[in-house]
Order: sequence, then structure tokens, then C-alpha cells
Amino acid sequence: MRKPLIAANWKMNLTVKEAVRLATSLKQKLKKVKNKEILLCPSFTALQEVNKAIKNSNIKLGAQDVCYKDKGAYTGEISPKMLKEFGCKYVIVGHSERRHIFNETDNIINLKLKNALKNKLNPILCVGETLTERKSNKTKKVIINQIKKGLKDVSKKDMKNVVIAYEPVWAIGTGKTSSPQDAQKSHNTIRNRINKIYSKGISKKIRILYGGSVTPDNSKELIAQPDIDGSLVGTKSLKAQDFSRIIK
Ligand code: PGA
Repeated sequence: MRKPLIAANWKMNLTVKEAVRLATSLKQKLKKVKNKEILLCPSFTALQEVNKAIKNSNIKLGAQDVCYKDKGAYTGEISPKMLKEFGCKYVIVGHSERRHIFNETDNIINLKLKNALKNKLNPILCVGETLTERKSNKTKKVIINQIKKGLKDVSKKDMKNVVIAYEPVWAIGTGKTSSPQDAQKSHNTIRNRINKIYSKGISKKIRILYGGSVTPDNSKELIAQPDIDGSLVGTKSLKAQDFSRIIK
């Protein structure tokens, strides 16, 4: 049985004070939730204080990005070790904003994912097609390609620590969600590919989250799909009320 994971991606939105306030409110609202894993991914600058705010709770901490190197002359970068110092258990890699605004390639994303695994941080690998790709019927091809390249040289053993997030680019921050049926189709494509690359056992265990304009109103139907194991929430994770409704 796959335990649902509901992750908040706060992106570049909250100051430390605001992030702590939101985390504290969520800790209170979600204290009775047992059957789901809850994850907050604040900005790097808020990690330390949010980690303190969620102490002794059922909420875990993650980062939004990580460097593919461990140490050295890489101005502006943050290493896995630095993230772990602040209590991070997860890290998002290959988010569509990293791919499309900051030109991250599949190769860079693969290096980041492997460096996270090497340092015992669980990566959440994001994949998803653009609107143009979708309109030209390339969705399946694009996501298979991102999965293959993103997971290149990742061992079977390491795969148990990987989470995948399917986030159609056209649905992120736009208010347009994939229909649960369409999302299920892509999730199924991803699971089948994991089966092909690794094994049936691994494909059955791996969690595949849906992301892209998830709201308290559409989350129930999305997560009811057989291959959707949780969500990666942006906009609606910035208000305690909305995010806790999604989780509940
Ligand atoms: P959104 O963002 O919920 O605002 O669409 C999701 C994401 O980018 O992870």
C-alpha cells in the first residue's frame, strides 16, 4: 500500500516570519492526520526556522532545489549536506520552473537527483509536458523521455527513495487542472515505464504525485485515481485553510 504524500511547494513567496506563521498554523490544524505524509518545502532561507516550528509534529521538511555537487566553489548553490543540517528529508528536483525559466536540462536534473540520493535525501522528480507538446500529442513521449533521462543510472535499491511528480506545465499556477482521467493516463504511463526500467515490485511501490492547480475542490477526485498517490501543491499551499482541506 502506498502512503499518500501531500507536499507544499511554497516557491519564492514567504518571508521567514510568514513561513513560520503558516507552518505553526498547519501543525495545529493537521495534528490528527495519521494516514498521510505531509511535507513543506519553504525557501532555503526559511528552512531552519520552519524546521523548529514543526518540531514534534507529523510534518516533514523538504527543499525546492539542491546542487549536484557536494562542496566547493559553486557560488550561490546549496549542498545536500546543508539541507540535511536544517532537517530536510526531501528535495524537489526538475520542477518545471527550474526547467523552463532557469534552463535546467535533464542531465543536470539527473545529477541533482543522484546527489540527493547519495546524501540520503529523498528526491521528488518533477516531469510534465508543455501546452504545445500536449497539443501535438507528445505528452507520452515527453514524460517517458524525462523519466528515462532523469533516472539514468539510478539503482533499483535507490529507487525506493524516489518520488515522482507529474506536473503538466500548462496546469501550473494557471487554475487549469488536468482532468482526473487525463492525469491518471499520464501517471499510468509513468508507472509502466518504471516497471519496464526496474521491476513490477518497484513500480507498485513508487509514489507518483499530481501537481498543477490542485485545490481543495479538485484534490479528492484526483487522488481517487488508482495511480495518483498524492499531490504537489503550489498556490493553494500558501493558506493554512486551503492546504489543510486538501490534506484532509
Ligand atoms: P500550483 O503549483 O499548485 O500553483 O499550480 C504547483 C507546483 O508548481 O508544484
